[in-house]
Amino acid sequence: MPNANIKGRRILALGAALAPHAKGPLAGAEMELGGMEQLAELSAVPRDLVLIDADAWEAPELAAAVKTLSGLKACPPVLLVGESLPAGLVRNLLRLPDSDVLEAPFTGEQLAGAIHALLAASQPAPQATSGDSRCWAVTGAVGGAGATTLAIEIATALGARARKERSVCLVDLNLADGATAAYLGAQPAMRLADFGQAAERLDAAMLQAFITPVSKQLDLLAGVRDPGGFDAVSREAVLRVLEVACECYDWVILDVPRHRRAWTLEALAGCDEVLVISELTVPALLAARSYSDEIEAALGTGLKPRIVLNRLASRMFGPAPSMTEAERALQRKADAGVSSDWEAAAASANLGGPIAQHRPKSKIVKDIQTLVERLAAAPARGPGARAA
Ligand SMILES: Nc1ncnc2c1ncn2[C@@H]1O[C@H](COP(=O)(O)OP(=O)(O)O)[C@@H](O)[C@H]1O
Ligand SMILES: [Mg+2]
Repeated sequence: MPNANIKGRRILALGAALAPHAKGPLAGAEMELGGMEQLAELSAVPRDLVLIDADAWEAPELAAAVKTLSGLKACPPVLLVGESLPAGLVRNLLRLPDSDVLEAPFTGEQLAGAIHALLAASQPAPQATSGDSRCWAVTGAVGGAGATTLAIEIATALGARARKERSVCLVDLNLADGATAAYLGAQPAMRLADFGQAAERLDAAMLQAFITPVSKQLDLLAGVRDPGGFDAVSREAVLRVLEVACECYDWVILDVPRHRRAWTLEALAGCDEVLVISELTVPALLAARSYSDEIEAALGTGLKPRIVLNRLASRMFGPAPSMTEAERALQRKADAGVSSDWEAAAASANLGGPIAQHRPKSKIVKDIQTLVERLAAAPARGPGARAA
């Protein structure tokens, strides 16, 4: 899978032994092998990252290189790799704004991971919003109802309406095996478990290291696969991530697992919409009704989740309940419906990217647009709005 974060990035590599990586972990990047003298020209020929093989150079050359880099007005991220990394050199290197070291031997994956983190961390944090950010949660009544698919399309539709770059953040709260990154063909970068208690003190700059850019408008916060993910990350860390995300982005869309965690209710309480996604089977509809009632009662704030019926067939044949029958099972009206389009959903997931990108004419895209326009136009029902 190409690394979205590395694709097209200009990397200056110093050390001939680095050349093979251009075809491996760094495939897609614009990698150029160069000499130390090119560091002085970085202000004229800017690069996104400098990769130095310490084993290819003598100690004085390396010291001079770090000195040159530290003198630059805008120093790109620097990654130093090698078997023998002198402590003094490393200390000076780590004083640069964005730098890291990787001790040899390392795998291609480790190299790509280190570069990915440096590139993400060096991106300017999105400008803080005026504080009126809106947060919507999307959660499935049953597994496979389409929560992840619709969360991705909603985030994409909001991005398309946005006037400024990086205005939407999609957060995958399925900490063990979230699928948003795979659906988007992106590399998850959030490593909350590795940060331990530090994650609870996360700030906007740290959040950037966890971000995978998906498009100009849309950023993704998704954890790397971790079977123990739910136990490894504290309630405080999850809530802090959400708090900082809401400070940085105009729109925050959450893909929320349906089993309740220590942080679930607080996360939902911070949202101004909760969308419960159901499919058109009687068990799913019954689950949607119970799930929505449970959330409403547990929050006790007056926020009523909206029920979205997914995979509506254009004409009802066979045993699928009609909308009216569905609403009878729900004992209430559904708030919105999304058409079924298996080809568009499957093709987009397989290609990696939103349906709006790969199948813009799909009815799913039109239905999501309608839903997003309606909800965005409605006054925020969020915590602030309800308190008022
Ligand atoms: N409106 C739709 N039409 C056709 N297929 C859909 C639709 N929404 C979701 N799907 C498909 O349903 C399956 C489950 O969707 P997913 O979003 O992973 O569900 P969940 O996150 O609720 O478990 C996926 O194969 C997805 O492509
Ligand atoms: Mg899902």
